[in-house]
Amino acid sequence: MTNAADPLTLVLVGPMAAGKTSVGRRVARRLGVQFIDTDKRIVAANGPIPEIFAEQGEAHFRYLELAAVSEALAEGGVISLGGGAVTEEATRTLLKAHHVAFLTVNEEAVADRIRGNSRPLLAGEDPVERWKRIFEERRGWYAEVASATFDTSRRPMQKIADEIVAWRREQQ
Ligand code: S3P
Repeated sequence: MTNAADPLTLVLVGPMAAGKTSVGRRVARRLGVQFIDTDKRIVAANGPIPEIFAEQGEAHFRYLELAAVSEALAEGGVISLGGGAVTEEATRTLLKAHHVAFLTVNEEAVADRIRGNSRPLLAGEDPVERWKRIFEERRGWYAEVASATFDTSRRPMQKIADEIVAWRREQQ
């Protein structure tokens, strides 16, 4: 597999439902490195995200997320972060030493992707409006940590993954 010194380590950030997991898995396969989804790791160790938010609060989730991001970066590979990871200054600081790609998606495409979703921050009425507001609040942080942006709204995920692989290889 790979480790922190691996020149192909790459981090994906972006709003909820930007395709970070599906694109990330494909990019990792193409680069021949491991794929880490920090949300999945948090769930494996602590249980479902809606329960963590409901029982321990968002601040606790962010604390678990910072630890998961730190561990993942130490291991290396392609790493997908939850949409809110960039809200923590300590997490943004960790990302500064790494190649980070920002995945964007427009509101038309996101409406289909978040239908019936269980994300606690989109619970309640009008999830698309919530999604838009949260994305706007965070847009500056994504731009701060990332050095390239890829829009996932329309194209097949494999094509986006291929573009990210090409970009990452240019960075070496
Ligand atoms: C969150 C995004 C989610 C997950 C949690 C909080 C956020 O991940 O980490 O529900 O604050 O944007 P995805 O971006 O994979 O949906």
